[in-house]
Amino acid sequence: MQKILVTGGAGFIGSNFVHYIIANTDSHVTVLDKITYAGNLESIKHLPRDRFTFVRGDIADAATVDPLVADCDVVVHYAAESHNDNSLHDPRPFLDTNIIGTYMLIEAARKHDKRFHHISTDEVYGDLELDAPERFTEDTPYNPSSPYSSTKAGSDLLVRAWVRSFGLRATISNCSNNYGPFQHVEKFIPRQITNVIDGIRPKLYGTGENVRDWIHANDHSSAVLAIIEKGKIGETYLIGAEGEKNNKEVIELILSHLGLETDAYDHVVDRPGHDLRYAIDSTKLRNELGWKPEFSNFDAGIEDTIKWYRDNEYWWRPQKAATEAKYKEQGQ
Ligand code: NAD
Ligand code: TYD
Repeated sequence: MQKILVTGGAGFIGSNFVHYIIANTDSHVTVLDKITYAGNLESIKHLPRDRFTFVRGDIADAATVDPLVADCDVVVHYAAESHNDNSLHDPRPFLDTNIIGTYMLIEAARKHDKRFHHISTDEVYGDLELDAPERFTEDTPYNPSSPYSSTKAGSDLLVRAWVRSFGLRATISNCSNNYGPFQHVEKFIPRQITNVIDGIRPKLYGTGENVRDWIHANDHSSAVLAIIEKGKIGETYLIGAEGEKNNKEVIELILSHLGLETDAYDHVVDRPGHDLRYAIDSTKLRNELGWKPEFSNFDAGIEDTIKWYRDNEYWWRPQKAATEAKYKEQGQ
């Protein structure tokens, strides 16, 4: 049995990973999470006590991080400030957590010679033209657009440097946009689902032609487990599930599943510097590690996700009003 330290395990993708690990392995999981506005203990309650430990703390605090890293076999690092819109209004926490926090973790992993897996995003590569054949690969040059993606790019480069200079036993994965249960209502898909539930019209930034490459959070988790088990030290793996959709199509799909006219949404102020298109070529992960996604039907995945938000209003309701008030101030 392995002891896995999961940073950010009370957030969206981290909590999905914790559930996945408990269900599919016999590993013990310790979650280290600061419980910022984005963390939610409700997402990781009712886990078996002999398999799971929770520690509230900041990854940027060396005294918190050091003993936890010393006591595990592998660190899986999800903790981050993760929302582009927030990074445009207040970048500082993104530097503190994504850059300094990652630095503290890799220093501890180096000191205690621990296996380290760094979770990152395809947004480090910037964006692609609409309707072009290109997709991101592991060789695409870094070209981040926002404070969020530039701090994620910086954290990836720190991990790469620690591998090369200090022999850190690390891997990196860059994944496309995730959807599924436990995602904060500030993000695109849950925001629109919960808006419709509340009788608010969905909000589309700009023309809505921007394309995102959607993957179910469970498929992200299975890919990360494959990398921890079989990935080659020092390598980067791109994770994606051939899920390209433009934002307009996604809103129309949500509206139609909720029984409304597909044009019952508003266009709002566009995001400054809004990346046009992301698309992942995950050939390396598929060929070298034998991974493939299970949730290939986006329509069915969205239907399940809508059902989850309908059934779990207790989970998202406390954040909804404040999130919408903040967007309103920004004209979004
Ligand atoms: P999230 O915002 O839902 O969760 C982040 C979690 O990290 C929260 O529980 C928060 O409390 C915790 N956290 C924040 N700062 C912390 C700190 N200083 N110390 C300890 N914990 C802290 O984010 P998410 O969408 O689940 O993203 C998780 C990771 O996956 C991030 O690294 C993100 O860059 C990456 N990623 C996200 C997506 C996506 O579509 N959301 C896609 C690819 C990669
Ligand atoms: P988001 O979930 O913030 O993820 P990311 O910025 O990491 O891609 O947004 C996904 C897409 O949806 C992005 O193109 C911005 C757009 N968007 C809207 O059109 N309306 C919204 O209310 C939000 C939150 C996002």
